[in-house]
Amino acid sequence: MQHRTDYWEKAQQAANFLLEHAGMEAVSQFVQCGSGLHSLIEAVLPDGKRIPMEDIPHFPPSRVPGHGRELIHGTVGGHKVMILAGRIHLYEGHDPLTAGFPAALASACGAQGFILTNAAGGLNQHFSQGSVMMITDFINFQGDNALAHLLTEDAGQRFIDPKPATDPRVSTALARQLQRAGLSVNQGTYIGVRGPIYETRAELAMMRSWGADAIGMSTIPELTVCHAFGLPAVGVSVITNECFKEAPVSHTEVVDIGAQVSPRLGQAIRRHIEELP
Ligand code: HPA
Repeated sequence: MQHRTDYWEKAQQAANFLLEHAGMEAVSQFVQCGSGLHSLIEAVLPDGKRIPMEDIPHFPPSRVPGHGRELIHGTVGGHKVMILAGRIHLYEGHDPLTAGFPAALASACGAQGFILTNAAGGLNQHFSQGSVMMITDFINFQGDNALAHLLTEDAGQRFIDPKPATDPRVSTALARQLQRAGLSVNQGTYIGVRGPIYETRAELAMMRSWGADAIGMSTIPELTVCHAFGLPAVGVSVITNECFKEAPVSHTEVVDIGAQVSPRLGQAIRRHIEELP
């Protein structure tokens, strides 16, 4: 539990460090890279400079060994961009406010938009492996909420209405670029679970009946913190596995499919940023 003022101050200190290091006054777009999607970085910022995450003040430490965690910064079509490679997951034992810290950091860096990416299982049977889904809404099934850990005396900052869940105009623009990059694009509702166990058949059936189209173990904390700080966000899920297939899902499959799709995802994100005013 921490006070909103302290949380924001930490984000600002981290942002000041990053902006100074990158020689930037502010950032235009902040991108969060999902698991297995690291090859999008080469497509968005081929000449990007890298900063190890552990150098960033207040950045939560990884509890998963072997994850390449760094921040990449550079310029796309005149826009300053930062990409976070390496995410903070609830299944590592972090609370959702900590997992949402990248969104506060993005906001403190002056970002105009936060582009979230993730790997997800397809619950909607029309979604095939390797396609992408624009997150137009979400269901928080993680059993906790970032804002329950953020103290504030201001009821307006506590009781937040997250509608629409993501920015529809930006989402439409990015979807167009994803199609141009040759990806099959749908839109739908993302359900976030805590993980790390994949779901039972009964759970999958229940979540599908609730209207969820894709499932993953991330993204809700960052989206929640985006809402808390008024940062417009878009989300793209890469459908790495089809949940109702007979074969069990494996982390290797998730990472492999993510790696296949991420260069096109990166190309689309780059073109999207290039076309921003
Ligand atoms: N379930 C939960 N998280 C996931 C999945 C899944 O099927 N695929 C990728 N991340």
